[in-house]
Amino acid sequence: SIPVLTIDGPSGAGKGTVSRAVSKILGWHYLDSGSIYRSLAVAVLDAGLDLNDVTKICAVAEAMSLEFECGDELVVRLNGGDISGRLATETTGNAASIVAAYPEVRAVLLQKQKDFQQLPGLVADGRDMGSVVFPDAQFKVYLTASAEERALRRYKQLIEKGIDANLPQITREIEERDRRDTQRASAPLTVPEGAHFIDSSSLSIQQVIDQVVNLVE
Ligand code: CDP
Repeated sequence: SIPVLTIDGPSGAGKGTVSRAVSKILGWHYLDSGSIYRSLAVAVLDAGLDLNDVTKICAVAEAMSLEFECGDELVVRLNGGDISGRLATETTGNAASIVAAYPEVRAVLLQKQKDFQQLPGLVADGRDMGSVVFPDAQFKVYLTASAEERALRRYKQLIEKGIDANLPQITREIEERDRRDTQRASAPLTVPEGAHFIDSSSLSIQQVIDQVVNLVE
């Protein structure tokens, strides 16, 4: 079967950076499942939908066409239009976390994610990659860090991108998102069975990348 490495963990743990780097080193495909939820959030906000309207959100999820282009920067096209610049904002992230809490929405997006499993292999980054989407994955990692450290990293990332940011607010939002992601009824964030646990609070990105590559090689 096609090898899969799942990397799960909370918001801001460095999953994106680590997953992208590891997929390049291994020459494997990369699934950024968070940007699928973020793209849906953009579609839902653009349609002016109420974030409580599960039925309409599911209809938008079923109808949306998504194209991912993994160059130096990820380019995402939603129904043909480039939405890359809108994915990283906190507005999008918060809406993503709300729509992601609906089991019906997750069910619609399940197959779209499974389709990324292609030769020579896949690095899948998310909240439920090792537990729900790829439970039979050969390699599983759970990557986390303290909430303060994750908020600080997210803050720096936004500033670098030229997006206005406020650290105390981001810390509150990270804690809020952790609560929503771990307490939701559907696919709550958990350490998948058999996952290799990495706390990156006092590790450099390079040290984390090395640990993960070692696990696979
Ligand atoms: O970067 P950050 O961790 O804030 O978010 P992300 O990974 O881009 O994902 C955005 C939101 O989508 C998260 O807050 C999760 O609630 C949700 N998500 C999910 O439920 N399952 C996934 N596999 C990936 C993301």
